[in-house]
Amino acid sequence: MDQRRDLPYDVTIFGASGFTGKYVIREALKFLGSSPSFQTLALAGRSSGKLAESLGWACSRSGSVSPPKGVSLVTADVGDPDSLRRMCEQSKIVVNCVGPFRKFGEPVVAACVEAGCDYLDICGEPEFMERMEAKYHERAKEAGSLVISACGFDSVPAELGLMFNSRQWVEPTVVNRIEACVHLVSDKKIVGNFGTYESAVLGVANAKQLQELRRSRPKRARPVIPGPPPPKGPIVEHQKNLGLWTVKLPSADAVVVRRSLSILTENPDGLAGVDEDPAHIEKRKAFWSTVKPAHFGVRMGQKSLPGIFAVITLGIFIGVLGNFSFGRWLLLKFPSFFSLGWFKKKGPTEDEVESASFNMWFVAHGYSNRDLLTQGRTKPDMEITTRVTGPEVGYLATPIIIIQCALILLSQRGKLPKGGVFPPGIIFGPTDLQERLQSNGITFEAISQKFLSA
Ligand SMILES: NC(=O)c1ccc[n+]([C@@H]2O[C@H](COP(=O)([O-])OP(=O)(O)OC[C@H]3O[C@@H](n4cnc5c(N)ncnc54)[C@H](OP(=O)(O)O)[C@@H]3O)[C@@H](O)[C@H]2O)c1
Repeated sequence: MDQRRDLPYDVTIFGASGFTGKYVIREALKFLGSSPSFQTLALAGRSSGKLAESLGWACSRSGSVSPPKGVSLVTADVGDPDSLRRMCEQSKIVVNCVGPFRKFGEPVVAACVEAGCDYLDICGEPEFMERMEAKYHERAKEAGSLVISACGFDSVPAELGLMFNSRQWVEPTVVNRIEACVHLVSDKKIVGNFGTYESAVLGVANAKQLQELRRSRPKRARPVIPGPPPPKGPIVEHQKNLGLWTVKLPSADAVVVRRSLSILTENPDGLAGVDEDPAHIEKRKAFWSTVKPAHFGVRMGQKSLPGIFAVITLGIFIGVLGNFSFGRWLLLKFPSFFSLGWFKKKGPTEDEVESASFNMWFVAHGYSNRDLLTQGRTKPDMEITTRVTGPEVGYLATPIIIIQCALILLSQRGKLPKGGVFPPGIIFGPTDLQERLQSNGITFEAISQKFLSA
């Protein structure tokens, strides 16, 4: 079935010379050669010198002196369509780390779809993801190219975390709402690289285009969720049970989760694989029958109230200044100042990366018995809390996640749809991604279950 079996590169990491790219190389090297499906790796980018430097860094951090067998360097530039075509024609999967995606992503998606090659990225930009779906879904379906964005910290912990929590609700209980709360932890300063900051700033600039795009598209199917929609709730809240002050976050996660839930509503058994055996069809259907849709939102948590005010200040800077070009110039010229030291041109040090970790709490409310709804009860009487934890989000968790997604594509392609543009949850939900993440340091735990007083 796989006509692309003999391509030179199993995986190509595009943008391998970037800050995140070099950590993705390091993660890929842990698995290169360990299974028949992953024997060759290409590192692609504009400068072979920089690619070699990143490879050297990744090898030294994996305890090896010389590059392992099976690694090649490939020159490709977003501005040179022929170089992208050559890269995609030689690769089974392109793992795209070249961002901001709204600036650089489309030619890469277009080249992958043209070549019928699979595409994964670490994008957290809703406008880009939805535009790619609108423009390339049908072509990707025909070409047999799976295009899956948001295969990093944005938004796999949210997608799998929501499914994990919703699967704790067994009949006759029903879930109504799940709120995720992200808490970044470190005994050093938490720092992100400029690339992520620039992507967030440009995201604000593109908010209008996203609204226009949504208005121009057919309305998406909405899942039927038992009970009334949750009240809006306060912007800032003290969540005693988590020991955190939290603030609402306009995160890509909520958008991505809603896309997966819409596709699930349209396809209650999930998406059929291109070459699925009957046992897997049953497994897929059984999995999706246990996932219940819920209203979903994301909050950011901090131990202290001043910490929350710092998050709000950063949001106001980006939200206000990101709306006009001089404001964006200021934000991008002085990232450290306007992000209160959270983002730096040179990114975090290795120590800062290694000492950081995350907790993502999922606090769900629902009903201990669905009959309560027909009896007129509207206020949830049950709470289930679960948690996803893992290492530093941008440069440790993200590489772990995207490389496991790539390994699933390489080894289980027949169980996945032939092609199309999709969010990660609807594709990887019924696979063994959660178990793979568990084995690589990203854990999923049920924390508590309790009844709430009336
Ligand atoms: N999902 C998540 O949780 C997550 C986590 C981390 C990062 N990210 C996203 O990943 C993206 C990259 O972030 P970063 O911090 O790694 O940025 P970065 O260090 O600036 O890396 C950008 C990469 O893009 C390459 N590039 C730029 N223009 C190019 C072009 N015309 N042709 C080919 N390659 C080009 C750069 O190549 P050169 O070396 O040649 O300049 C570099 O390799 C951002 O959008 C960020 O938001 C997401």
